[in-house]
Formats: sequence, structure tokens, C-alpha cells
Amino acid sequence: MTRILCTLEDLDQTEAKEIVFDDKGERVSIFVVKYEGAIRGYVNSCPHARLPLNWRDDQFFDVTGLYLLCANHSAYFDIQTGQCVRGPCKGKSLTAYPVAVEGPNVTASS
Ligand code: FES
Repeated sequence: MTRILCTLEDLDQTEAKEIVFDDKGERVSIFVVKYEGAIRGYVNSCPHARLPLNWRDDQFFDVTGLYLLCANHSAYFDIQTGQCVRGPCKGKSLTAYPVAVEGPNVTASS
């Protein structure tokens, strides 16, 4: 089954979007980011304390826009790999969530 997560237009303002959905009775929280023209998805769970990264809606980037940021304890993550490059979980990685672009939509298969 293909699930529409959001539209590309949804990413225009913040370049990122949190998406929460039910998958077979389980709550799933992910986020999708647009960076250098590519779309990536990650599970919204920091490897440090397994908390959501964002403290505001759809805010996942640091002030430079070059890293993903966990707002809880300031862990910085490489946008392309999800690896923590600075902070309490340095060396660990976000869990990638496979997404695809289909026409105007960002989708995932489940
Ligand atoms: S929960 Fe993300 S840095 Fe602590």
C-alpha cells in the first residue's frame, strides 16, 4: 500500500514536515525534509533519549539550515545520512524512513 505523506508544496515554507499516522494500530511519527533538491525521511526519534527532535511544528533544521537539530539537548545530525555529528549521541544515527516522490506527492510504501 502506498501512503501519501504530504505534497512537495507542503515543504516549501519550512523545508520539513512532521507526519504522524497510524500503521496497523501503531502510532508512527516521521519527518520529511527537502535538502538540495532531494527528499529524505527519518523516524522522528532522537537516538539519545528517543524523544521527538522538534519542539515546534515542522522545525527540524538548525539556524544555519545545514544540519538537522534535536531541540532537546542540541544534537546535530547530517541531513543526508542522519548521523549525529555533534551532541550527546555523536556517532549514532537517526533511523531512515524510505520515502519517494510521485508527481506532486511524497509517499511511502507500507
Ligand atoms: S533527546 Fe535528542 S539530544 Fe537528547
